[in-house]
Amino acid sequence: MRKRIIAFISAIVVILVAVVGYNLYSGSRNSSESASSTAKTSKTATTKSTSSKKNGKILVVYFSRKDGVSGGPLKVGHTKVVADYIQKHTGADEYEIKSATAYPKGYQATADKAQKEQEDNARPKIKGTLPDVSKYDTVFIGAPVWWGEYPMIVRTFMDKVDLSNKTVIPFTTHMGSGLGNTQEQLEEQYPNAKVRDGLGVEGTQASKSQGDVDQWLNKLGY
Ligand SMILES: Cc1cc2nc3c(=O)[nH]c(=O)nc-3n(C[C@H](O)[C@H](O)[C@H](O)COP(=O)(O)O)c2cc1C
Repeated sequence: MRKRIIAFISAIVVILVAVVGYNLYSGSRNSSESASSTAKTSKTATTKSTSSKKNGKILVVYFSRKDGVSGGPLKVGHTKVVADYIQKHTGADEYEIKSATAYPKGYQATADKAQKEQEDNARPKIKGTLPDVSKYDTVFIGAPVWWGEYPMIVRTFMDKVDLSNKTVIPFTTHMGSGLGNTQEQLEEQYPNAKVRDGLGVEGTQASKSQGDVDQWLNKLGY
């Protein structure tokens, strides 16, 4: 009987040691896991701030119409949707190019006006003040492709704002022309800038383009 009691007590002691030991082990494991996940988070944050430090201050310039091409007005113009994705990814400032004389709401009337502006090599007036670009290292310039190129109002911006010695990156929305001639237009306008590979997004797919935008920016190192 005495032997049985000793065996019973020994069994309880073994179980207690096992339970306490396991709890101690898993407690230290959890705290080291959470320490390493904190380290991971802070590493990600550091990487992000290092990357934005590396690229300096960023400005996203865009022109966009809200009136659409067919099917009525849009809540937000296609190019603005893409501009906002770039802003979100990079933490950039944004500047919208607005025409002093609004473009007509109808597609055909806008198409006629845009074609005439292009034939005349016009520089339509921009509404409001231009941004002070001296503090920016990278400037993204986005617009819808109009007749294969940047709309002439973007050319007004380019003539007035010197982006020499900066990194300049085009983006567009379009109905099949991709970037059109925009990258070449930037290279010609700013021979002393570093013009990098742009992104063209099909206008009707703009709201689904965040993944493509992020991928493109990651590839460029932003
Ligand atoms: C005047 C005009 C000219 C256009 N020319 C072209 C063109 O040459 N190639 C093209 O793919 N899309 C062309 N488009 C379609 C626009 O580029 C496309 O709908 C764009 O996504 C509109 O962007 P937004 O909503 O930001 O203004 C043209 C649209 C307009 C209004």
